[in-house]
Parts: sequence; structure tokens; C-alpha cells
Amino acid sequence: MTPTKQLTWKGTILAIDTSCDETAVAVVQDRKVLSSVISSQVELHKKWGGVVPAIARRAHEENIESAFHEAVKRSGVMMNDVNGIAVTIGPGLAIDLEVGIDFAKKISREYKKPLIPVNHMEGHLLSSLLLNASGNGSFEQDPDELLPFLGMLISGKHTEIIRVEKFGEYKKLGWTLDDAAGEAFDKVGRVLGFGYPGGPIISEFAKKAPRKENFGLPIPMERSGDMNFSYSGLKTASLYRVTELREKGRKDTEWVADFCWEFVDSITKSIINKVGMALDEFPDTKGILTGGGVYNNEYLVRTLGSYVRSRGVQIYFPDKKYRGDNAAMIGIAGLRMFNHNNYLISEKQVEQVDRVPRFSIEDIIAPNI
Ligand code: KG4
Ligand code: ZN
Repeated sequence: MTPTKQLTWKGTILAIDTSCDETAVAVVQDRKVLSSVISSQVELHKKWGGVVPAIARRAHEENIESAFHEAVKRSGVMMNDVNGIAVTIGPGLAIDLEVGIDFAKKISREYKKPLIPVNHMEGHLLSSLLLNASGNGSFEQDPDELLPFLGMLISGKHTEIIRVEKFGEYKKLGWTLDDAAGEAFDKVGRVLGFGYPGGPIISEFAKKAPRKENFGLPIPMERSGDMNFSYSGLKTASLYRVTELREKGRKDTEWVADFCWEFVDSITKSIINKVGMALDEFPDTKGILTGGGVYNNEYLVRTLGSYVRSRGVQIYFPDKKYRGDNAAMIGIAGLRMFNHNNYLISEKQVEQVDRVPRFSIEDIIAPNI
């Protein structure tokens, strides 16, 4: 085995993410977030019931320049002091990724800075390692102390459980076979008439549930015997139950909060089951890092948190600002790569960087190059 270069987590990274519907630019220095600008397009996509890639692209093109200037200004850092430009190259929506990549290439040329092509899911995975400007955060120690650890990522398009023995080398233990958890939230939200994105509204209703009524929703992949996830069954079962309730003439207001609670509980249980299996298989696990927009659901955070701690393992959640899509997380993943000398300098190399819409976290180039 080649010796791994010790990660110092030192450096100043300007990071960009345009993988979906947020135009995000941030400056991260030694794990500290100096600035994080997120220009959200939720309002633009609402009337279509989901993200429309072409509309998102246009908004990225309109916003990226000002998000960049704002992020630099707020950080108090001069472009001269930046060590590298990190940009998400995937996974994400192809035509949207392109806007960030083209802009990153432009400033990489203009300021003569290395370009760091980042995997969006590595960003989510490392988001709990971000610190605020005063150096406080969910995990403040040397990240090497966490190894080996597990990652549990739950976002709009991905539900993945990952084993990490070395930063930069990620092994997926389980992933979604169809819909991701966030997608299930959004689709069921649409059935309930909540519009896009449904996740936050389902979570709000669930909080107020009187918990008087049960709907018999399944716990996804409860007996699959592996660590994979699948949420299309829960989505279909939800659709049937809602149709049934409405056909019976039941008013939504009578059952909707309890329904939302059961839906959230069912997703939470499915996550706990798989995390439990991973902890059984890897008793040397020192901690769990989490990431992704679905962690905005506080019930999930509380319940999964107590379960993992009851197994004698620590679990870390990102600050609320970095659970959903943002560029600070791309900054810390970029910092990891920068420390591993995993970046591109020559104009030719930079020019060749391209989007990878289905970029798996397992396919990140290993360190020591
Ligand atoms: O990580 P993220 O911002 O984007 C992706 O990379 O996909 O995750 C977005 C997902 C959406 O499906 C959204 O409905 C869900 O996160 N989400 C929530 C909540 N807030 C956002 N799901 C449940 N409860 C929430 N409060
Ligand atoms: Zn994301």
C-alpha cells in the first residue's frame, strides 16, 4: 500500500456548485466557512412542480457572476490568496453543471489558480466537517480521528451508505435501487397537494400530528437482507392510501398530519435498519457523518441520532445551512483534494474538465496521484 499523504486541511478554496437548482459560491479556509452564498431558484420551479433543467440553467447563468463577487466580498479574502477553484462536475443535471464548470474555468484562467473537479456527494459527505468562522462546528477534532467511519447521505436524488477507511476512497455499502428518500418526499408531497419541494411541508405537518390514526405504510426494504434502499414501494403505497381516504370522503385536514408523521417515521425506520446493519458488519466504526437536504427533518435527526448513540457510536450532523445544496461543502471536498495534490494546473488540463452527470462517489480518483 502506498503511504497516504497526511491531510492538513489547510488552504483557501473558492467553491462553486450549480448541480441542481441553487447557484452557490463559497469561500472555505482551513475547514472554516468564510462565506457561503446560495441563490435559490425554488420560486422559479414551484409552478412546474419540480426542477426544470433549462430554466435552472438560465438562472445559473444570470446569477453566477454576482454570487461569485458576493462570496469573495463577504469572505474578506483576496483572489490572490485563494489556493484553488473547486467546482462540482457531477452528479447533477448535465446542462446545469456546465454553467458552474465554464465559470470555474474562466476564473481559473483569469486568476491563474488550479481547478479542482469535485464530486457533489463527497461534498455532502464532508459537510459535517465544516466549521464556522470562529472554528466551531459539529466535528472539531482532526478528521483522521474519525477513520474508519460511515457516511449516511440522504438527498433529493441519492440515498447512500458509505464506508470510509481513507479520505478520498469511498465504498458504497448500499444505495437506492429506484427513488431516493428526498424524491419520495417530493412525490408524496405532490400527491398531498403541497407543491414543490414537498419535503419541508411534509415535515411541518408531521410535527403537528396528533398521532391517532395508522395507515399501515410499509417500512421500505425491511427484510431485503442487504443495505440497499428503495422508496418507490412506499411512494405507491402512499398514493393508494391517499386515494382511498379521499374516495371515502375523508377530509384531508382530518388525516393529513398523521399520514405525514407515519410517512416520515417509515423513512426514518428504513434508514435506521440499514445503519444498524452497517454497524453490525463494521464494529470498528468510529463515527457516522451525515449529509443531504432530507436531514432538515428534525425527527430523522433526533431518532437516528439516539439510535446510533445507543449503539455506542458518535454521529455528526452538518450545520442546518449546509444540509441542503451549498458550495461550502464543495469547498471542503475541494480542500481534501487540494491537500492530496489532486488538482489541475495546465491550461490544457483545465480545458478538458467536463461534466459527469452520473459521477459516483466510488469513482473519485484515489489520493497519492
Ligand atoms: O441535498 P439536497 O438539497 O439536494 C440534492 O442534492 O438532491 O436535497 C433536496 C431534498 C429534496 O427532496 C427536499 O424535499 C428534501 O431534500 N428536504 C426535506 C426537507 N427539506 C428539504 N426533506 C424532508 N424534510 C425537510 N425538512
Ligand atoms: Zn445535493
